Amino acid sequence: MAARKASKKTRKPVKKSPVKAKAAKAARKAVKAARKLVAAPKKAATAALKAVGNGHGLPKPSSKPFGQAGKALDGVRVLDFTHVQSGPTCTQLLAYMGADVIKVERPGVGDITRGQLRDVPGADSLYFTMLNGNKRSITIDSKHPKGKEILERLIRHCDVLVENFAPGALDRMGLTWEYIHKTNPRMIVASVKGFGPGPYEDCKVYENIAQCAGGSASTTGFREGPPLVTGSQIGDSGTGLHLAFGIVCALHQRNRTGRGQKVLAAMQDGVLNLCRVKLRDQQRLAHGPLKEYSQYGEGVPFGKAVPRAGNDSGGGQPGWILKCKGWESDPDAYIYFITQAPVWEKICDLIGKPEWKTDPDYATPPARLPRLKHIFATIEQWTMTKTKFEVMELCNPLDIPVGPILSMKEIAEDDSLRATGTVVEVDHPTRGRYLTVGNPVKMSDSVTEVTRSPLLGEHTEEILTKVLGYGAKEAAEIMTSGATTAPEKPKAAAA
Ligand code: COA
Repeated sequence: MAARKASKKTRKPVKKSPVKAKAAKAARKAVKAARKLVAAPKKAATAALKAVGNGHGLPKPSSKPFGQAGKALDGVRVLDFTHVQSGPTCTQLLAYMGADVIKVERPGVGDITRGQLRDVPGADSLYFTMLNGNKRSITIDSKHPKGKEILERLIRHCDVLVENFAPGALDRMGLTWEYIHKTNPRMIVASVKGFGPGPYEDCKVYENIAQCAGGSASTTGFREGPPLVTGSQIGDSGTGLHLAFGIVCALHQRNRTGRGQKVLAAMQDGVLNLCRVKLRDQQRLAHGPLKEYSQYGEGVPFGKAVPRAGNDSGGGQPGWILKCKGWESDPDAYIYFITQAPVWEKICDLIGKPEWKTDPDYATPPARLPRLKHIFATIEQWTMTKTKFEVMELCNPLDIPVGPILSMKEIAEDDSLRATGTVVEVDHPTRGRYLTVGNPVKMSDSVTEVTRSPLLGEHTEEILTKVLGYGAKEAAEIMTSGATTAPEKPKAAAA
């Protein structure tokens, strides 16, 4: 540095040509302008921060490009004691958001879904693989003394315990809330149960039971038919989603209180939350018939409870599922068509009924309500002359809300869903490539990379040594103690 200064002092003035001097001046100006440009957002950001305050002690906004500042739940470690569908849905979402999810499974057996609905002999089923991506698997016998010790260490090293055992099962393992809270006061204990406290709290519950008890089945299907369950797993996956929301909120609250809490998502409650519009309608019934239900137009009187409404739209804009070209042989050649009031005139022109625009029987929404069946039958005459995609192409530019009935085959082959990472193809060592559903929530600063589900106990040794701090020798002893492996079958039984 000193040498450089000296050379600057002793440097002889060099005569510059006027052209070069002009160029140098222009270059200096450009550099100055560029510096100003770079400084501007920094200055703007500082000013903006001053205006909003320091955000309760939040760090300065990261200068890293969006998507390169880690993941939303980086640093959160989850002890995943879940099985079947509801709990695993929750923990997979947490894993997609960056949490380190350690799935604890019973040695030799694992999550029961590993072997359910198997399509490839000997390989983990799609039921399991599609709900357990981005997780690590450790096998622990929770009833083995050494297994209990490992679990205690896990409780100390994790932020959240998620479980969806039958009521009382966690307590029977010795993992009561009191014990967990004493062992790690910061731990959040999150549970899915079929029912909340009340007459059914001890019941075991699966998806369709929740759909029935949560009010969905009684309001799904056609009036003349029996109650129906839906293909959407609103009881299992829906409750898993609710639980994930509760966990993230509890993590946020822990930042203030320093302590964990219990989080309960009951499947009945989750389903009811998703069909709250039907509880809305139950109360409206006290004030008269539900005019947007097609049974009103058909002159069928309402009973005491909200009826099944077929394919009626649940909102204020009447809709129905209509046949499209090819419906005779293709069970999915249908479209959902909504007669949204603001585009009614465009609908009339499109289907060749311009006279309906001024006919008092059709021109206004209240006038149309008693005639919905006839209106949709007329629109269907038009949709049956087009494929569902042609209907989309004609209606979308006119802002008429329509949606094709897409088969799972069409969804699996949809390029746009793959491009956004909603449908993802992953590789698996024993079953080969399979499709799964990626993170349905897209975040600009937390990018999800979907990885395959773990093999049973694939990460047992890694977790014992790298997470729980057991030495190599001790880990090796544990691996042969019976705490992480299935008990040997007696020879006669094994034969
Ligand atoms: N080591 C040793 N034992 C283990 C273990 C492990 N790692 N993991 C589980 N177990 C034991 C449990 O301790 C329990 O034993 P216990 O009944 O003797 O105390 C047993 O395995 C299984 O528990 P359970 O939850 O009763 O399983 P199940 O197959 O009989 O019932 C459900 C399945 C789903 C009906 C039930 O778990 C349930 O109602 N869960 C809550 C609601 C729910 O999530 N339902 C939707 C599922 S998608």
